[in-house]
Amino acid sequence: MKKGENEMKKVVIYQSGTGFTEKYAGWIAERLGCEAKEYKSVKQKELTDYDMVIYGGWIFGGMVFGYDKIKELNLKNVIVFGVGMTAPSEAVAAKIAEQNQIPRDRFYYYEGGYAPQKVGFMKKMMMNMIKKSLEKKENKTADELHTLENFKGADNTSKEAIEELVARCLKQ
Ligand SMILES: Cc1cc2nc3c(=O)[nH]c(=O)nc-3n(C[C@H](O)[C@H](O)[C@H](O)COP(=O)(O)O)c2cc1C
Repeated sequence: MKKGENEMKKVVIYQSGTGFTEKYAGWIAERLGCEAKEYKSVKQKELTDYDMVIYGGWIFGGMVFGYDKIKELNLKNVIVFGVGMTAPSEAVAAKIAEQNQIPRDRFYYYEGGYAPQKVGFMKKMMMNMIKKSLEKKENKTADELHTLENFKGADNTSKEAIEELVARCLKQ
């Protein structure tokens, strides 16, 4: 019997520091009719039971947090989404996909936000350094000005943004 849409076992696995990635993971799982599980709560071996793993990680210095561990598992069908505070664009998504060695057609970038009240001391120091270097930059683009605004604290999550990923996952 050919595997139909409903028989394909899917799961959303995520790592979220301050909740934005978790929010996207919940939205995606709801649309796909599957579970969203925090990476820490699953055994790596368990992930091989699924036909499709949708992995979401927050962006930390250009890296999709935790994706290195997922890559090591060599799963057959992995779709990745990264959540950062940079305004979304094809250029940003392509750069992150390349840096993390994710096939471009399997990666989606979403804008999260910034929750300074939930970020630890060391990470906040790193963020202040990034902010300072951006402030010093001449002729800032609209996207860079937008990112600077986000340092004050922002939630720019968008439920509509997940549509392309959802459609693609439902098709398989
Ligand atoms: C230490 C640190 C480094 C970050 N580096 C980036 C980055 O390189 N690019 C980006 O777009 N966002 C970066 N961010 C912003 C987070 O990715 C953003 O706040 C994201 O929405 C957090 O998602 P979470 O709530 O799931 O943790 C960084 C945040 C911190 C604290």
